[in-house]
Amino acid sequence: MFADKVLVHFSQIFSPIDHGRPLRGAEMSEATIIEDGFIAIKEGKILEIGSGEPRKELIGEQTKIVDYSGKMASPGLIDCHTHLVYGGSRENEFSKKLNGVSYLDILRESGGILSTVRSTKAASFETLYEKTKRLLDKMLTHGVTTVEAKSGYGLDWETEERQMNVVKKLGHDQPIDLVSTFMAAHAIPEEYKENPDAFIEMIIEDMLPKVKAGDLAEFCDIFCETGVFTAEQSRRLLTAAKEQGFKLKIHADEIDSIGGVDVAAEVGALSAEHLMVATDEGIKKMSEAGVIGNLLPGTTFSLMANTYAPAKKMLEANMAITLSTDSNPGSCPTANIQFMMQLGCFKMGLTPVQVFNAVTINAAYSVARGETVGSFKTGKQADIAIFDAPNIDYPLYFFATNLVQDVYKHGELVVKDFARI
Ligand code: NIG
Ligand code: FE
Repeated sequence: MFADKVLVHFSQIFSPIDHGRPLRGAEMSEATIIEDGFIAIKEGKILEIGSGEPRKELIGEQTKIVDYSGKMASPGLIDCHTHLVYGGSRENEFSKKLNGVSYLDILRESGGILSTVRSTKAASFETLYEKTKRLLDKMLTHGVTTVEAKSGYGLDWETEERQMNVVKKLGHDQPIDLVSTFMAAHAIPEEYKENPDAFIEMIIEDMLPKVKAGDLAEFCDIFCETGVFTAEQSRRLLTAAKEQGFKLKIHADEIDSIGGVDVAAEVGALSAEHLMVATDEGIKKMSEAGVIGNLLPGTTFSLMANTYAPAKKMLEANMAITLSTDSNPGSCPTANIQFMMQLGCFKMGLTPVQVFNAVTINAAYSVARGETVGSFKTGKQADIAIFDAPNIDYPLYFFATNLVQDVYKHGELVVKDFARI
């Protein structure tokens, strides 16, 4: 069978080992690194990868050959945790942060998430759509081809629905694949301040069925944190969401360890997010329950904290881990997953192979897309990030600079010479 395109002579291809499930513990240190590699593409899918000259049988008269000498390729990067759609921005909180006011204190004073809720409520569908599209374009130029997107800046149905509809429409209108997560339980709205249990009940009885009926989200998530939602409230919401057919995620152990990890293990969440202050006992529970640890070092960095999630302990305990941006206007305003990968090395002590596995194959399974993306297995989508780098170490070592030169999505070139085309 002739290929449509063959990309040849990569100095290295990073190819994750695909067992059909996330890589755990020591498995995360393994990958196939192909020298002088080629990638053959047919109808937007991976046909074959290999080393040296591609087989004659792959090359027909119509086959396009592209030379990538001196460049490194990996599967398209997957940003598996973002708060993508929001109105406004929060640089007004930056000087407060510099003066030592904490994230939870800003939230207690109705700033933080609640300030973005006000801006998002005030923004039209078109405003949110255009703003989010620009952000996605930036992510794409950083090599990202799949993004998980949470709602949660509405807290009322009308705005939550608008956020999810923006995600739905953008899923059709631009190249990045989007995975939608419903997260109305992101903060306690002012009108429920005295009775957060009633807010959880309202989400369960009123909002979840509407999300399902409108096919607006695949996952349900909740912020389990001091001053936000308790472990008991998280348990109640996620149990109900599971019964209604949602896959589950939970923001746990981000600032304080208040039992979110236990809930993740009990309810069978696919992933627990943040885990900056995860305990040894929590790590053991997640490992036993097969919960993926989704780590967001940019949030630690942006919160000006030193509590990076204990990634190495998690690997020692045979957990699967991922890395992602948490892209949001408060605790991590960024579109650059490469910097998260670098923080994974610089601040968590991970190796380049572990980091690339985290943002490709494991991230794919953490958003239930392991069947279609995350590795170069034949038949998977030809989503490819091409780095202006000779090997897989270089993009981790040369930090805080976008090194993704070209991006293919479904086999089509969408970023060329560092620019969106
Ligand atoms: O993951 N933890 C809760 N949500 C986001 C922050 C959102 C915001 O500050 O706007 C997070 O850190
Ligand atoms: Fe988050």
